[in-house]
Amino acid sequence: MSKVTVVGAGNVGATAAQYIAEKNLADVMLVDVVEGLPQGKALDLMEASPIHYHDRKIEGSNSYEATKGSDIVVITAGVARKPGMTRDDLLKINANIVKEVATQAIKYSPDATFIVVSNPLDVMTYLTWKTTKLPQHKVIGMAGVLDSARFQHFIAAETGYSVEDVRAMVLGGHGDLMVPLTRFATVNGIPLTELLPQDKIDAMVNRTRDGGAEIVKLLKSGSAYYAPGASVAQMVEAIIRGKDRLIPCCVLADGHYGLKDVYIGLPCVLGTEGLKKVVDIKLTDEETAALKKSAESIRENIDKMNELLSVAV
Ligand code: LAC
Repeated sequence: MSKVTVVGAGNVGATAAQYIAEKNLADVMLVDVVEGLPQGKALDLMEASPIHYHDRKIEGSNSYEATKGSDIVVITAGVARKPGMTRDDLLKINANIVKEVATQAIKYSPDATFIVVSNPLDVMTYLTWKTTKLPQHKVIGMAGVLDSARFQHFIAAETGYSVEDVRAMVLGGHGDLMVPLTRFATVNGIPLTELLPQDKIDAMVNRTRDGGAEIVKLLKSGSAYYAPGASVAQMVEAIIRGKDRLIPCCVLADGHYGLKDVYIGLPCVLGTEGLKKVVDIKLTDEETAALKKSAESIRENIDKMNELLSVAV
């Protein structure tokens, strides 16, 4: 039986744990610095197990020792931006948190695959890769699944067709410069462009880009967690069940799409070994330019993080 550690017992971490257990994928160790929080959420989740009929064990701990031997480590730890806080403040705080989490977690689970969820996502995934010194195929960021799910939901809602028939992929960084590939979005193979006018498609693309912010604005405090938690569970499932799913993930660009030494959302095959491969598809000049722009912005933030971190990576 597989073991998944989820670091950060906030809403995203706890929801990821919930979906992982409900899908019967693995036992879950929920870890957080706040005493009682991971234990309380784990107990609550276990008390739901007789209703969901799963025999997965969910435990909570404040110690990394409890994470020993995990197959997958999910990092959700970090803070969300509060009023008065700059993006640099957030970058610095979360970089220090994620660096510490990665340093501790890898000690106890040297063979684990890491899935990073903390923001700014692409930069934190790069940091986790550098910190753990794991091969690149074992450090993957979760954003493309979430951004694509948001896009797919909007397509289903706008067309009126079932989400079951909607496919769409969003590449690029998890931010304002993400690259929704409208050309490849279909409803059961029928291109979206055949079904909706361009202005409707453009509106959905914008809403997808602002998907996280729209939820933050509505919630007033905190950010999205159901769709992010479900997205984590889908990636965990692909790895644990060796499904070789073709989904967008944040991975190290190693010459792919003309990009290098940057973590960014690309079409990936996700299976037992983590990232099995990056799939190179032919993009238009416009799409390539958008991806490059997104990569440049991530690269700038990686450089900024290196300046801000007490210990550079
Ligand atoms: C979002 C955060 C989780 O997009 O990144 O909602």
